[in-house]
Amino acid sequence: MEFREIAKGVSIPILGLGTWGMGGRETPDKARDSDTVTAIRMAVELGLTHIDTAEYYGAGHAEELVGEAIDGMDREKLFITSKVWHNHLHRDDLLRSMKASLKRLGTDYVDLYLIHWPNPDVHLKETMEALEECLREGHTRFIGVSNFSAQLMEAAQRNLRETKLVANQVQYSLLDQKPRMELLPTCRKMGVSLIAYRPLERGAILQTPNPVMDEIAKTHGKTRVQVALNWLISQENVFTIPKSTNPIHIMEFMGALGWRLTPEEWSRLAEAYR
Ligand SMILES: NC(=O)c1ccc[n+]([C@@H]2O[C@H](COP(=O)([O-])OP(=O)(O)OC[C@H]3O[C@@H](n4cnc5c(N)ncnc54)[C@H](OP(=O)(O)O)[C@@H]3O)[C@@H](O)[C@H]2O)c1
Repeated sequence: MEFREIAKGVSIPILGLGTWGMGGRETPDKARDSDTVTAIRMAVELGLTHIDTAEYYGAGHAEELVGEAIDGMDREKLFITSKVWHNHLHRDDLLRSMKASLKRLGTDYVDLYLIHWPNPDVHLKETMEALEECLREGHTRFIGVSNFSAQLMEAAQRNLRETKLVANQVQYSLLDQKPRMELLPTCRKMGVSLIAYRPLERGAILQTPNPVMDEIAKTHGKTRVQVALNWLISQENVFTIPKSTNPIHIMEFMGALGWRLTPEEWSRLAEAYR
């Protein structure tokens, strides 16, 4: 595994595991629970110890499956991220959500707690203060945001009294390079990590033929998935969290590590998908 600093003195794997769709989407679906738990355990054993989940996923069931998978593991070796849904951003709702997530995950704390989506109907100040309360109570080690623009992320930071945001989780991939323009430079300036979600565009990266991708994949003896993930993690302060419950696909993720695209290949890919 390769590690990168997400907060001062704290390094986590640059490649983690997403869980959207595990245990259902908007509602719980228990049909594949056993395979899902096995897949999460396998991923962690391979080194994907950063697990990304949310109260929204499977209406809480994804968190329950993560909890089942990590039961008995050395908690300190894991970095667990969860997120509060946008209709729970008032102080009391947020604290209730935080505690419910911890219960489902079967842990005393998460490592990172994110606002899943902004909500213009709730004052950012109230939400940021509630997040700082979670920090003080030891429910989470770090806090951050998700799907926040550069301006909103700066506003979120201004509303924090005691601490710094550590991450903004946003959609970022070869097929969606918008964050490169403004968000990533702002993240770097603020010392905020960018966690790239949907790095494979839910499989679309495999289906979109691209001669530059295929040439570069061939040069390195890698697959499109591995090249697409490497393109993300080659960037300073970028992490990513592909999702799979298929053991073969999880093994394939690991092949994104231990090598790098050349700067020229990186730029050619960026151009080829723009
Ligand atoms: N903050 C947010 O608002 C937000 C939004 C979306 C996602 N996320 C997080 O980011 C994670 C990743 O995003 P995502 O799950 O939307 O998309 P993704 O990681 O780009 O793609 C996941 C999909 O690709 C398939 N896949 C993976 N490896 C493959 C391979 N080698 N060959 C073919 N198909 C493959 C998976 O199916 P199999 O399981 O069958 O392999 C799954 O359906 C999520 O799981 C979630 O944790 C956050």
